[in-house]
Amino acid sequence: MNEPKRIAAQQREMPEPSEGYRKVPWLVVLIVGALFAWSIGYIAFTHQGEQPSYGDRRSAADFAVAAPAPGGVVDGAQLYTAQCLACHQASGQGLPGVFPPLADSEWVNGKGSLAIQIVLHGVTGEMTVGGTTYNSQMPTFKDKMNDAEVAAVVSYIRSNFGNTSEPVDAETVKAERAATADRTEPWKGDADLQAMK
Ligand code: HEC
Repeated sequence: MNEPKRIAAQQREMPEPSEGYRKVPWLVVLIVGALFAWSIGYIAFTHQGEQPSYGDRRSAADFAVAAPAPGGVVDGAQLYTAQCLACHQASGQGLPGVFPPLADSEWVNGKGSLAIQIVLHGVTGEMTVGGTTYNSQMPTFKDKMNDAEVAAVVSYIRSNFGNTSEPVDAETVKAERAATADRTEPWKGDADLQAMK
């Protein structure tokens, strides 16, 4: 009975939609193809035979540090970087409240012997630097550095970071070391060192 009606409804139906199709533009194909070819070539022809760890093209030789000749010149800047920079910073400004500054410090720029003694034996306890009191610890360097090295690093801090004090020599360090040879403890900050200024 309802048959003709249903057919009429069916006839009004639109065909099933289907997805359109458009070709990839030839320019895009060309660009992708060119990039692909270029990248294969890049991998194949570049950086062959180089260790990946030398990615920035530096070789092991670039990292070699020339060992100072015995009795030769010791590099104070290099010693500073290796032994002191972690605390007193590259700028010599220290870290506020933790590590005192070497720049413009009365301890660095005072008597050469004073700075030498500080480096030889280290410091602990309250120490006033530029009006600020620090209460921390600096390690001893008497077993880590020889006379020439102490002289070099002390001379370095006395002539950098804006400081313009006279250098010290290894002979002075030798004498200072001998004078305090029986000392096993670090200097007790202001308590010991003020009197030595
Ligand atoms: C582990 C951190 C540390 C290292 C490494 C260190 N220092 Fe210090 N230094 C200190 C601290 C902390 C003080 C202050 C001590 C205190 O508070 O009693 C100090 C104090 C000083 C002082 C006297 C105060 C001033 O600021 O002028 C001098 C000079 C000094 N250090 C030089 C050196 C030199 C040179 C080296 C490297 C050979 C060195 N220090 C390595 C932590 C360090």
